[in-house]
Order: sequence, then structure tokens, then C-alpha cells
Amino acid sequence: MSAAIPVIAIDGPSASGKGTVAALVARALGFAYLDSGALYRVTAYAAGQRAVPLDDETALARMAQGLNLRFEGGEVFLDDAPVGDAIRTEDAGRTASKIAALPALRAALLDLQRGFRKAPGLVTDGRDMGSVVFPDATVKVFLTATAEERAQRRYKQLIEKGFDANLAALVQDLKERDARDAGRQAAPLKQGADAHLLDTTGVTIQEAVDRVLNWYRQS
Ligand code: CDP
Repeated sequence: MSAAIPVIAIDGPSASGKGTVAALVARALGFAYLDSGALYRVTAYAAGQRAVPLDDETALARMAQGLNLRFEGGEVFLDDAPVGDAIRTEDAGRTASKIAALPALRAALLDLQRGFRKAPGLVTDGRDMGSVVFPDATVKVFLTATAEERAQRRYKQLIEKGFDANLAALVQDLKERDARDAGRQAAPLKQGADAHLLDTTGVTIQEAVDRVLNWYRQS
């Protein structure tokens, strides 16, 4: 049944702008939006709160399966409490990327993610939305930009949120995160043969959104 419900899967590296583009595409089409990275971030956050060791794959997977999560208006609620920007720090992203390499944890989050596929449609972003979670997605996009441009975007985002940020450290961190996300065994980050490449270096957000909308209309 759910296969008839359209999915637009936008994958790509850290800070490529895929979340911004995905949310705007969802709004333009009246579709729901799933930020899959937030699931890994909130899992890492919950592990910290509950003192679950980050290298205990079985315990993490069990905890992830039982998480009481809700997304509402761009906010993530854990046990009905908003987690706010605590999951948006660089540190939280780094920890999320570490636990995201654990296959049992990824498997534990599969059903939860697929549950977001509801009429009239879903736009989702992450690393494996088109390859693993929604392999039958209507449109698949691999959205990227140079590491320098992504670091600039992340810098702006962190400063706007009132966090400290250092551009050189961000470039280094992004490169490390790219290497970990692309090099892991479980659902590595890579452009699928069936995904449209969208390099957003020097491209405005609106242009990127329009390109995705055009691919969807032509699908
Ligand atoms: O904003 P940024 O792209 O840095 O991170 P995110 O999309 O919020 O994801 C945080 C981390 O979760 C990433 O570095 C990935 O390692 C992991 N992730 C993943 O493995 N699979 C996904 N579908 C989404 C995120």
C-alpha cells in the first residue's frame, strides 16, 4: 500500500544544506518532512541521559527501539519534552555519526523511519534514505557542495544559534565526518546510480528547491 505514496529522498554529506532544501520542498508540496539525522542525534542524546555506553551496540539498539519520539513544527520531543538545540551542536553531530556506524542501531531505526511514509507524501533527508530506507523512492537526490562551502554554511548556522564556532576546526570536522560516513560498512554515504546529483556550491536555496521540484514533476 505505502509504495504508492510518493517519497523524495535527499541524501548527502554533512552541512550540504539538504535539511533546508528538503523542508522547503516538503512545504511546497504539502508533504511531511523527516529529518533522519535528528533520529541519530536524539539517540545519542538519549544515550547520554540514560548512561547507555556509546559502544554497547545491543543496548543502544534496544534503547532506540523504545524511544518515545515526536516531531512537531521542526522540534523534536523526547518523552514529551522538547530537546531543543542540545542535539544541534557539533559535538552531538559527531557522536551521532559515531553511533550511526552501528548496524544493529540502524536496523532498530528502520521501522520508525518507514512509518513516516503517509499520504500525500514524504520528503526525507539523510545518508541512506534512497539506498536503504526507501529504495523505491519516487525521486532520489544526492545533494552536496564543497567541504569549504559546507563549513561556511555550518559556521553561519552555529553562530545564528548562539554557539561558538571556528571555521578551520569545522572544515577538519566535516572532512572527518565525511570519511566516517562514507567509509563505514553499514549504509555508507555515496551517490546511488539512480540518484540525481545536485551540487549546491554557488547555487541558491531557491534554485536547489526548484530543481528538486522539477525532478519530482517529471517523475
Ligand atoms: O547536519 P548534518 O548533516 O551534519 O548531520 P545530520 O544529517 O543531522 O546527521 C548526523 C549524523 O547522523 C551524520 O553524520 C551521519 O553519520 C548520521 N546519519 C546517518 O548515518 N544516516 C542518516 N540517514 C542520517 C544521519
